[in-house]
Amino acid sequence: MHFIEQLKPRVSCHLSFIMCDAEGRVDPKPIRLVAAVSRNMGIGQKGDLPWNLPNEFKYFIEKITSVVEPGKKNLIIWGRKTLEPFAETLLPLPNCINALLSRTLSSAPEHVHCVCPSMMDAIKMASTPPLSENLETIWVIGGVEPYAEAMKHSWCDQIHITDIMEDFGL
Ligand SMILES: NC(=O)c1ccc[n+]([C@@H]2O[C@H](COP(=O)([O-])OP(=O)(O)OC[C@H]3O[C@@H](n4cnc5c(N)ncnc54)[C@H](OP(=O)(O)O)[C@@H]3O)[C@@H](O)[C@H]2O)c1
Repeated sequence: MHFIEQLKPRVSCHLSFIMCDAEGRVDPKPIRLVAAVSRNMGIGQKGDLPWNLPNEFKYFIEKITSVVEPGKKNLIIWGRKTLEPFAETLLPLPNCINALLSRTLSSAPEHVHCVCPSMMDAIKMASTPPLSENLETIWVIGGVEPYAEAMKHSWCDQIHITDIMEDFGL
């Protein structure tokens, strides 16, 4: 699974969205991506990570669970397939609210706050009260389509890439 094509829109276009609730309230949040990428720009294989790198995974978890202001939370946006191998072992994560992107699921798995049928729905939920009042950062953690969509959003201010210096035959 390759990621490099999805990076190109970052330099060529930046979409702007203005979102508000029925009362017109909007509370923009930084949208950040975190990904580990092989030398040949691969991110996954057979539904899982191509590598087993505990320190990299620890770094990833620390990043998405960190908040600057005590008591605040981050919204973690998962693609459905990205969550699958972790759903029963990793959640709940401290300081995190989980949103699952799916056009097919109708109910949320345990520890998932909501199933969102689009990235825009997830971002809108995060940036309008009441959720926005308690939220610090939106972390988009894959897979390919969530990354591609999030990096085009005008609120996307950081992309955290771990350079995995092998190609794993991807
Ligand atoms: N190296 C890394 O940092 C990293 C990070 C994340 C994932 N990965 C790897 O990447 C692979 C999974 O990524 P993937 O790209 O195949 O799948 P994915 O994005 O995790 O999941 C795809 C599914 O998510 C839902 N979805 C995605 N974008 C959506 C959108 N904009 N709106 C609504 N629903 C959306 C759809 O679910 P429905 O079919 O239910 O509609 C879609 O079929 C795994 O191998 C994983 O280990 C690696």
